[in-house]
Amino acid sequence: MNEKRSSFTGKIGFVLAAAGSAVGLGNIWRFPYLAAKYGGGVFLLTYIILAVTFGFSLMMAEIAIGRKTGLSAIAAYKTLDKRFDFAGWITALIPIIITPYYSVIGGWVLKYLVGFLSGEVAAMAEDSYFDSFIGMSWEPLIWFAVFIGVTALTVLFGVQKGVEKVSKYMMPVLVVLTIVISLYTIFVMPGALEGVKYYLMPDFSHFSVMTVVAAMGQLFYSMSLAMGIMITFGSYMKKDISIEGSVGHIEIFDTGVAFLSGLMIIPAVFAFSGGDESALGQGPGLMFVTLPKVFNVMPGGTVIGAAFFIMVFLAALTSAISLMETVVSILQDKLHLGRKTAVISVLIFSLLLGAVSSFGYSIWADVKILGMQFLDLFDFVSNSVMMPIVALATCLLVGFVLKPHVVIEEAELEGNKFKRKKLFSVVIRYIAPACILLILVSSVLNAYGIIKI
Ligand code: PHE
Repeated sequence: MNEKRSSFTGKIGFVLAAAGSAVGLGNIWRFPYLAAKYGGGVFLLTYIILAVTFGFSLMMAEIAIGRKTGLSAIAAYKTLDKRFDFAGWITALIPIIITPYYSVIGGWVLKYLVGFLSGEVAAMAEDSYFDSFIGMSWEPLIWFAVFIGVTALTVLFGVQKGVEKVSKYMMPVLVVLTIVISLYTIFVMPGALEGVKYYLMPDFSHFSVMTVVAAMGQLFYSMSLAMGIMITFGSYMKKDISIEGSVGHIEIFDTGVAFLSGLMIIPAVFAFSGGDESALGQGPGLMFVTLPKVFNVMPGGTVIGAAFFIMVFLAALTSAISLMETVVSILQDKLHLGRKTAVISVLIFSLLLGAVSSFGYSIWADVKILGMQFLDLFDFVSNSVMMPIVALATCLLVGFVLKPHVVIEEAELEGNKFKRKKLFSVVIRYIAPACILLILVSSVLNAYGIIKI
C-alpha cells in the first residue's frame, strides 16, 4: 500500500483525465431523456443548482480524501474511520453493477454507428426501428458483446492512454457537432422552438419530488461521484495542484456537454412529435429514436450522423474503460487476482449481467421488478439507492467525523486557494445530508408504491 503512486503531469492532465471519465453516455444519452421526462426547464434549473452546490462539495471532498490518504475508495474510508468501512464496500459494488448495463447502451451506440456508416439512415428514422431492434433477442446482445469486448481488450493490454489521447482530440469535435445539430434543429425545423422553451424556461407546474430525485441521481452518475472514482483520481493528484480550480473545470465541462445534448435532443422531440407531450416520457430510447430523424432530413445528415455516433462511441468507451478499470483494480487489490484473470472475470460477469439487461427488452420484457425492467432496475438501484447512501456517508464522515477543515486544509496546500469553503462547509454538513436523506427515503417509498411522487 505504500508503493509510490504515479501522478498526473499537471492540472491540465488531471482535469482532462477526470473529464474524460465524467463525460460519457451520462451526458449525451441519460441527461436529455431525464430532462425531457422530468420537467424540462425545472429539471435543468434543479440540476444546475445541485451541480454548483452539492456536486461541487462532494467532488471537493472525494478528491481531497483521495489525495490526503493516497488510497482508493475501499481502503480510504476504512483508514479514515473504521465505522465507515461499509461505504467503501458499497462504493466498490456500484461500478460492478453499472459496467454491464452501461455497455449494453454502448452496444446500441455501436449498432447506430454502423447503421450510419452503411447508409441506413432512412430505415433508422422510422418510428418502430429502435423498439424492434432492442426487442430482438440476439442482435443487441452481439453489439453489447463487441462493445464490452473492446473495452476489456483495452484494459487488458493497458492501452487506455492511447484511447484517451484519441478521445481528447475528439471531445471538441463532439461539442461542435452537438452545437451544429442543435442550431439546425432549432432554426430549420418547425415546432422546435416550443422545445427550446420547454427546455430553457422553468415551468414550476412540472416540478415534482421526482425532479429532484432524478436530478440528483443524474448528478452522481454524470460527474462520476459517489462511486470511488474521484477518490482514486485524487490519490494520483499532485499536492501543488488546486483542487477547487480542477473541480470547477470538470464541472463546467461536464455540465456544458449535458446542457448541449439536451438542447440538441429536446427541441427535436417537439419538432417530430407535433406537440404530443407523451413523446417526452420515452426514457432510455429517446436519443436513439430522435436523432436519426434529424439526420434523415438534415443536409449531409448521413455523414454528420456517422461522425456524431463515432464521437459518442469514443466518449462511451473512455467512460466504460474507467468503470471497468475500477472493478479490475478492486479485484486485484482485494482478491489478489492477476490482472489478466481479473479482466477475464469482470468480462464474464458483465456479459452475464448485461445479457439480463438486454433480454429485459426482448424475451424477458414481461418480467418487472418494482415496476421496472432489468436495465432500469440496475440503473435505479445504483443511482437512486446505493450512490445516495455512499454520498450520505461521505458527508457525515467529512462533515462530522473528520470535520470540513480537513478538506479545506488539503485544498489550501502549497498556497492554493479555496474560495467557496464556507459554502462547502455548510453544504457538506447540513444541506447535502438533509437532501440526500429526503431523496433516498422518497425514491425507495416510491419504488415500493407506498407513496406516489
Ligand atoms: N460519468 C460517466 C458518464 O457520464 C459514467 C461513469 C461513471 C464513467 C463512473 C466512469 C465512472 O457517462
